[in-house]
Amino acid sequence: MGLATEISKRRTFGIISHPDAGKTTLTEKLLLFGGAIQEAGAVKSNKIKKGATSDFMEIERQRGISVATSVLAFIYKDRKINILDTPGHKDFAEDTFRTLTAVDSVIVVIDVAKGVEEQTEKLVEVCRMRNIPMIVFINKLDREGKDAFDLLDEVEQKLGLRVCPLSYPIGMGQDFQGIYNLWKKDVLLFQDENKQTIGEQQIFQDLEDPQLEAAIGTHALETLQEELELLEGVYPPFEAQAYLEGQLQPVFFGSALNNFGVQELLDCFIEIAPAPRPKAAEERTVDPQEEAFSGFVFKIHANMDPNHRDRLAFVKIVSGTFERNTPYLHVRHNKKLKFSSPNAFFAEKKQIVDVSYPGDIVGLHDTGNFKIGDTLTAKESLNFKGIPSFSPEHFRYINNADPMKAKQLHKGIDQLMDEGVAQLFTLNLNGRKVIGTVGALQFEVIQYRLLHEYSAQCTFENLNVHKACWIREPENPSPEFDEFKRVKQKFLARDKHDQLVFLADSAFSLQMTQQKYPELEIFFTSEF
Ligand code: G4P
Repeated sequence: MGLATEISKRRTFGIISHPDAGKTTLTEKLLLFGGAIQEAGAVKSNKIKKGATSDFMEIERQRGISVATSVLAFIYKDRKINILDTPGHKDFAEDTFRTLTAVDSVIVVIDVAKGVEEQTEKLVEVCRMRNIPMIVFINKLDREGKDAFDLLDEVEQKLGLRVCPLSYPIGMGQDFQGIYNLWKKDVLLFQDENKQTIGEQQIFQDLEDPQLEAAIGTHALETLQEELELLEGVYPPFEAQAYLEGQLQPVFFGSALNNFGVQELLDCFIEIAPAPRPKAAEERTVDPQEEAFSGFVFKIHANMDPNHRDRLAFVKIVSGTFERNTPYLHVRHNKKLKFSSPNAFFAEKKQIVDVSYPGDIVGLHDTGNFKIGDTLTAKESLNFKGIPSFSPEHFRYINNADPMKAKQLHKGIDQLMDEGVAQLFTLNLNGRKVIGTVGALQFEVIQYRLLHEYSAQCTFENLNVHKACWIREPENPSPEFDEFKRVKQKFLARDKHDQLVFLADSAFSLQMTQQKYPELEIFFTSEF
């Protein structure tokens, strides 16, 4: 099969949601419909969550928080579907942001009762900025929730989306009877048994079918007809191009737990969701159809196998074919590397793969060569854009608690930072190391991992920082820039790429600095 055909078959996407909206359940049910698993361990047993599939780290099992971002792949109707799982916990938001650089589209899961929640807002904003095509799945229709029109309105207002419902519920909660599928123009009736396996579905092709009226009642049918008319008047029709450009977001309703509305979502998804798309590098835009291989590291995962301290670098293939045992250029190191056992990911396991195509994710065993954002190519010197760091929210000094293990500590910190667990800043004044994280939980993760993986012990000490601000250093420093560096030297540091960072201690001090040094170029992400 040619490269073009392989590319056209692939759909690589992420599912994003606020924790508890049902992302794990939906993922599991998609695998079930994809035939990748035979039985969904009704989420209580958390087969996928607790198995080796999406949680590789012990700490995750301990806390039950999806720390890891993993890949689940399956074939559905001749399409190769790659789901990039994203941690829902807000302390790992940065991990999710990075994963979003590797997806070609996303599905946003919203809880019908809770509506749009904080974490959804943040993640959708990132997708909107990148014009990533999004489909919205409103979940838990078997529970009492908000009115469907109110919810659609909330999604538009709070998430800044332009929605286009492709399914619509008949009743809700206790009175939930099914959905009208505007995509296929049929009615699917709700049955709430059969959560583990795929059961028979009751579908009516025609709203006029007397058996439908008998099944749901005259009142429900009339309400549905009225609401569908209203829907048509209020919302725009589906336009594939607008969806692909991130200008229109189809909405589906269902209940992942009850396998309901999931297949409808999947059937539509494989028709409309984009195949792998071109990606911008600093040098040029790379098209997936190009023969020469290129890809980038969006995730590094340590300790996949507790018996070996190995790391796996997750590479999204952007163009060409990736082949086992072929030397590829590690652009940052300007060095050729060969991979004898690249992993591909299938539903519940990983396995060695000979050839992979654009859209696929390969896991490469790494002994410390890779950092997040690294580019691999056949031979061209390319650097893919778009994995910026944002200012962390929490900052602490890290101290060595075991002087005999200073080397281990440094190595551990270095490797954890390469994985993107947190950000490291080194103060200009005294060389002290400061760790910045998105959530307070990461400090515990770091401490735990340093101890278990590197036998190093550390303590943390609070540091009052409001925001890390990246500063562009002028080629010819002006007297103003020199003064800024002198006055603020206590607050200046270098990040891991040796970029100058101003650790502003308060919003006020940041504002004063901006006023006092108007020529200073301040940025709130590391990529400028
Ligand atoms: P997350 O990954 O987004 O955090 O959510 P997850 O799938 O773990 O689901 C969160 C909770 O919501 C789970 O219940 C799950 O069973 C439930 N849930 C998911 N989809 C539906 C649905 O369509 N209807 C209803 N009623 N519930 C749904 P839990 O009690 O928190 O977890 P568990 O004890 O069942 O594992």
